[in-house]
Amino acid sequence: MLCRVCQSEISQFMSFGDMPIANGFLTDDRFESEYFFELAPSFCNRCNMFQLIEQPEPERMFHENYAFFSSISRYMQIHFKAFADFVMERVLDGRNDPFVLELGSNDGIMLRNFKDAGVRHLGIEPSSNVANVARSQGIQTLSEFFNLDLAERVLREHGQADAVLAANVMCHIPDINTIAAGIARLLKSDGILMFEDPYLGDMIEKTSYDQIYDEHVFIFSATSVTWSFGQHGLELIDVIPQITHGGSMRYVLAPEGSHPVSQNVNDLLEKEQAQGLHRKETYDQFRRNCEASRDALRSVLELLQNSSKRVVGYGATSKSTTITNYCELGPEHIEFISDTTPIKQGKYTPGMHIPVKPYEVFSRNYPEYALLFAWNHAQEIFEKEEGFKKQGGKWITYVPKVEILE
Ligand code: TYD
Ligand code: ZN
Repeated sequence: MLCRVCQSEISQFMSFGDMPIANGFLTDDRFESEYFFELAPSFCNRCNMFQLIEQPEPERMFHENYAFFSSISRYMQIHFKAFADFVMERVLDGRNDPFVLELGSNDGIMLRNFKDAGVRHLGIEPSSNVANVARSQGIQTLSEFFNLDLAERVLREHGQADAVLAANVMCHIPDINTIAAGIARLLKSDGILMFEDPYLGDMIEKTSYDQIYDEHVFIFSATSVTWSFGQHGLELIDVIPQITHGGSMRYVLAPEGSHPVSQNVNDLLEKEQAQGLHRKETYDQFRRNCEASRDALRSVLELLQNSSKRVVGYGATSKSTTITNYCELGPEHIEFISDTTPIKQGKYTPGMHIPVKPYEVFSRNYPEYALLFAWNHAQEIFEKEEGFKKQGGKWITYVPKVEILE
């Protein structure tokens, strides 16, 4: 297998086994025909990109029934308002009739803020159900996959962009070279590309291997972003850590030489060297950490199962698909998973087929233990769920380590 960025030979350093589509919540009549692929990550010694060996075709993941609606979390709405404000202040301020393009704009959670400020904008969102939500709110959105043809069309119809944005999207797109070339073509000579995604350094540090699932074909670092976008004349000029998705990084890029490079970039590149993100041994250790985490989580749940405790999952996240399948946790361990997303409710989780139920089913009859699959929203959830704790309910978490919280 060749690296998706630099075409060097790469090989997998571990396998999570057969995996279904992470957001493929399904009804029981679909169990027979469920699609599986081997989830196996790899790491390139040359350009340092962490990537999946195999990724299902995009149409299997992003379609008219896509189950992920960004606006479901109150905190994420605040986060994307702050992201938009940051772009307006740092990039758009003082520019004449600027144009903002967002890749993977989902239900318009970020672009809404540009629309409200009267800024020319366009979202590209291939999953038509979430895109329709955005359009119904007056947010300009195209339901297509981004490619070079589309880049040309956007250029003809809207002109070059002052800012190209993406959040939790860049890491989804396997053909990173086409994307980077398309963005380089679309950006004004003083334009800015800003994207944020789960950060490799955090994942390695916390053993949060549930970031690895079909959609995340890449887990980026400053080192691999510098390499991959540098090939297309885009220079990393700043990096800003984010707490979202359990540890993300916002990468700020610009046409080479057009903007000064912040000291933050060099600092982070050095930190990544010190952490060993370029070394094979780091990934061998990560594999052992994943195996230990899996064994510990299984033991806890088997113990609770043997003592007939009620355990419910909290948040039917994409990430939980990797956990439940890799750790082989099914309805015998987890009675159901509570989730506030209507399209997931009444369905079953991919692969292990744990029922997903509305939040009210959880809150009406608290279980003894809740396994926090939406651990990246822990703060928001703990604040909301004081009642559960007061009734003696206990949280189980697995990041950064498996434990029952007292
Ligand atoms: P998210 O954290 O975005 O994870 P992923 O990217 O792995 O899918 O998804 C959060 C899920 O948790 C989403 O399905 C909504 C659900 N959720 C709740 O049910 N209750 C809550 O209070 C929160 C914050 C999320
Ligand atoms: Zn490479």
